[in-house]
Amino acid sequence: MVKEELLRLLEEKRGEILSGNDLKDALGVSRNAVWKAIQLLKEEGHEIESVKNKGYALLKESDVLSVGGLLQSFGKHPSYHVEVLDEIPSTNTYLKESDGKKNNTLVFAKKQTKGRGRLGRSFFSEDPGGLYFSLLKKEDLLQYNPAFATIACALAVRDALSEVSGLSLSIKWVNDIYHEGKKLAGILTEGTLEMETGTLSSLILGMGINVNTMEFPEDLQDIATSLYLETGHTYVRQEVAKSLLSHLEKNLVLTKENPVALVKEYKKHMLYLGEEISFLYQQLPRTGILKDLTPEGHLLVESEGAFLTLHSGEISIRKGD
Ligand code: BTN
Repeated sequence: MVKEELLRLLEEKRGEILSGNDLKDALGVSRNAVWKAIQLLKEEGHEIESVKNKGYALLKESDVLSVGGLLQSFGKHPSYHVEVLDEIPSTNTYLKESDGKKNNTLVFAKKQTKGRGRLGRSFFSEDPGGLYFSLLKKEDLLQYNPAFATIACALAVRDALSEVSGLSLSIKWVNDIYHEGKKLAGILTEGTLEMETGTLSSLILGMGINVNTMEFPEDLQDIATSLYLETGHTYVRQEVAKSLLSHLEKNLVLTKENPVALVKEYKKHMLYLGEEISFLYQQLPRTGILKDLTPEGHLLVESEGAFLTLHSGEISIRKGD
């Protein structure tokens, strides 16, 4: 379609003016068709400047999630199958419930009406400025160790967000990214098992990042934040996704090849080491000192004179009493 192809050309030269003549020749359509396609892109929210007698430029800060734009920023390896949906309950649920999706399908939702978090919690994802997506891995799963998948994702999100924003970010074990006491992002990793063999048949890696979110509902204002709120400017989400996925693919390989290095790196950014934390242990609330992160990615806590190892599954920790 002319519109998609035009967007691809504009994306290729973001920030530069492309002449109407060159565009019409490249697309093999009339100038009027170019103009019409520009209007459609503008209606979709793309920030395109029309410069009289010169042409059109896609502004550097234009931030609309589109399949073409995302594919272009990812490059070819690995080749993702990208979907961008306006609104769905949850990208993780969507992938779980759709049969026949290909390996490396990446689903983005502009909004989620039932964004899910760990331990049955919900994840606020109704603001169109967020980055809510899930990646499906269903081939060559033996090259990953799923026990470290959440750690791999959390570290990838932390590193990518630090890189694009310059903020110094921390990880609250096991899957939350924080900046100065407020949550910026969360991760929900899920797997499906082949019942007959008990082997993993797919991994769904879901990430929710408050990128350009301008405002949170009142009950979240003290505990959640966004890159925009922390730095005062907006980000191009496809650039954030690009950085994140490149960290993620690298970390996923490490889950098998060198999980010790992965955990070591994760530990550098982990909150509350050496501090008092509270947690539920065998359904009962406890407090203890967070002593260490084990090479398996579990928490070692000293509590009531004993050392306990906390596994990620059903534990949520918080600072202090
Ligand atoms: C958490 O806070 O415990 C994890 C939040 C994970 C949210 C992401 S948004 C994309 C994907 N789809 C979901 O429903 N959840 C994850």
